[in-house]
Amino acid sequence: MFDIIDKLAVQHTLSHEEFRELIENRTPAVDEYLFAKAREIREKYYGKEVYLRGLIEISNYCRNNCFYCGIRNGNREASRYRMSKADILSCCREGYALGFRTFVLQGGEDAYFTDEKMIDIVSTIRQQFPDCAITLSLGEKSYETYKAFYDAGADRYLLRHETATPEHYAQIHPAKMLFETRQKALQDLMEIGYQVGSGFMVGTPFQTASHLATDLLFLANFRPHMIGIGPFLSHHNTPFSHYPDGSVELTLFLLGLLRLILPASLLPSTTALGVADPDGREKGLLAGANVIMPNLSPAEVRAKYILYDNKIGTHDDAASSLKKIAERVIRTGYHIAVHRGDAKPEK
Ligand code: 5AD
Repeated sequence: MFDIIDKLAVQHTLSHEEFRELIENRTPAVDEYLFAKAREIREKYYGKEVYLRGLIEISNYCRNNCFYCGIRNGNREASRYRMSKADILSCCREGYALGFRTFVLQGGEDAYFTDEKMIDIVSTIRQQFPDCAITLSLGEKSYETYKAFYDAGADRYLLRHETATPEHYAQIHPAKMLFETRQKALQDLMEIGYQVGSGFMVGTPFQTASHLATDLLFLANFRPHMIGIGPFLSHHNTPFSHYPDGSVELTLFLLGLLRLILPASLLPSTTALGVADPDGREKGLLAGANVIMPNLSPAEVRAKYILYDNKIGTHDDAASSLKKIAERVIRTGYHIAVHRGDAKPEK
């Protein structure tokens, strides 16, 4: 096992079989060995800096019906909201004052936010915050729409691939949602020139070690700038309400492997990790992650943007979310950076 990890650190990829074996035969000793290597590589590229992204949850309306997600269209109990342009801009202002230089506008696939409305919002943020990165996370759109958002000033786009195995994709999404559409959207984003974020959940129903090995190979090949992974967490009002949550330990292990696969990548220590384990986000940073995404959304909307049960920070404001996270970051020996936090070039 130690040999395979050494090999991965040098070659940045492995065979499907080797990845699967690593995932299936993890031990605490192997974990420690991997995490030490992952930290060494992360520090070679990013030193002790942790990059910040301010998350603004602009709408929880969604036309999709993903089996795992609390804001799925079929969840009649979700109390729906959308933020106004003025509210989004005031979140950016507040975030800027707190040191955020990247704003992530995330929402369900909400038809209210037409291309015209989004272009207006993006170009206004671009004008008012010229030194900030604008990231969108609004799901699947056409090439033309992605291009128009990019031309309006968006720099980055987050769209998790969710699973790189078509059969597994079909097990966790309704028949209307196609694996091919997801993959095409990811290709389009890359082609347009976005800094692309992708990723997957760990421990979704039906997921196997072989699926995870396929996810790692997909990412090794697709080479996104950012990779977001977090444990699957059940939501009480979804078809997957009775499935067990994903493993924190396995998520950390995969973060470590991803740092070796894509040494210069941006790896967030995700909110889901912090929900599954109170110290999850520190553990993520110590397993190779280098990005934190505190919530900048107004208190009223946070409690409604619920993808899974037990979301944290739903009563906090932007300043207190940041403060709590900063304290956790400091405990790891790392510190938060005030700049856009672009990915470093490969060495
Ligand atoms: N548990 C964990 N992560 C989830 N996501 C959606 N629902 C859940 C859940 N129940 C993730 C998906 C999506 C991202 C925004 O949140 O991977 O792409």
